[in-house]
Amino acid sequence: MHQDIERILFSEELLADTVKKLGAAISADYKDRNLLLVSILKGSVVFMSDLMRSITVPCKIDFMAVSTYGSKTKSSGTVRILKDLDRDIRGCDVLIVEDILDSGMTLNYLMDLLYGREPNSIRICTLFDKPERRSVDIYADYSGLQVPDEFIVGYGLDYDELYRNLPYVGILKRSVYETEEQ
Ligand code: IMP
Ligand code: MG
Repeated sequence: MHQDIERILFSEELLADTVKKLGAAISADYKDRNLLLVSILKGSVVFMSDLMRSITVPCKIDFMAVSTYGSKTKSSGTVRILKDLDRDIRGCDVLIVEDILDSGMTLNYLMDLLYGREPNSIRICTLFDKPERRSVDIYADYSGLQVPDEFIVGYGLDYDELYRNLPYVGILKRSVYETEEQ
């Protein structure tokens, strides 16, 4: 696993510190609200589990699983719901918890879908952001770390379902995916 990593981009310590800061900002903004954290499976599970423990105001959690068609390193924008939320979100202050905002197509689709269900409010919290790659007009209300236009893995993020369990985030060696996707 470690031998497929070109270099470490974010250490465990930096990730922990970043998540704590996001948790503090969210806790300050969501006092006396009806906070519902919606984690997008599977990439955001590691982030979600750390983030929810750094939030100090009452909150509920739910999960959604989506699959975005495309290659293993780029999404196409066509989203399919694999697992929907368990409950109605009317009246909830929804905060979508996502691993990485890349083209923005996945979240753009989800925002439209969830907005139609009439929550009280809806915002986005992403741990990583690749602003250079955005193809739709969408921004995160809470954003942890900016990432260069490289394919990263670890701390929940995968390539072909692997590397999610790395405790740090690293840039995947191009040789791992270039031969396969040509
Ligand atoms: P978007 O629809 O292009 O914004 O894609 C977002 C999804 O693509 C994320 O939730 C990730 O699952 C995946 N993704 C985008 N960039 C990376 C990356 O660098 N590493 C791993 N997964 C990524
Ligand atoms: Mg993925």
